[in-house]
Amino acid sequence: MPIVRDKEIEVLFSASAIARRNLELAKDIAAHDYRDLLVISVLKGSFVFAADLIRAMHDVGLSPEVEFIFISSYGAGKVSGEVRVLRDIDNEVKDRDVLLIDDILESGKTLRFARDLMLSRGARSCSIAVLLDKRMRRQADIEADYVGFDCPDYFVVGYGMDVAHAFRELPFVGVVKGEG
Ligand code: IMP
Ligand code: MG
Repeated sequence: MPIVRDKEIEVLFSASAIARRNLELAKDIAAHDYRDLLVISVLKGSFVFAADLIRAMHDVGLSPEVEFIFISSYGAGKVSGEVRVLRDIDNEVKDRDVLLIDDILESGKTLRFARDLMLSRGARSCSIAVLLDKRMRRQADIEADYVGFDCPDYFVVGYGMDVAHAFRELPFVGVVKGEG
């Protein structure tokens, strides 16, 4: 079991399993005839997944534009679950096919908010790709179009995801032993 920052990490999804799955997701995305595709990576957690997924998309012949939106579902000192845009995208989404990329779909509040925002701005369509889906935690009415893996109800880290700003650099998704 890997040890990082003096903590044992149990690997849930290995780097190689994620890489294989990313290519399958890219093929699924390519099978949809999106026109003028704009990928929007939802920061911070999705930056590693988005970086790998857009390169897998390149490998299957797609050439998306890439944007970033920083959305927080926890304002400082606020009640958990309040969704706010901390930094918006620079591009117009009107009449474009948008693909939101996020790390985890959990309550669904973040992605429900983001999709509603893109559609209200006139996006032609707004699909969602997530690496992990914690279905048992859903509160909002939303599903992802592309899911890497169903995730057990643990707090996971790595591959862009953090706990208290740590572990984003891990190349795999894992659970910190004794804290999951
Ligand atoms: P929700 O779907 O609005 O509840 O928000 C999901 C977001 O919460 C994800 O994009 C992550 O940033 C964060 N999150 C949820 N579960 C985990 C976890 O297990 N590890 C790290 N971040 C998580
Ligand atoms: Mg997030």
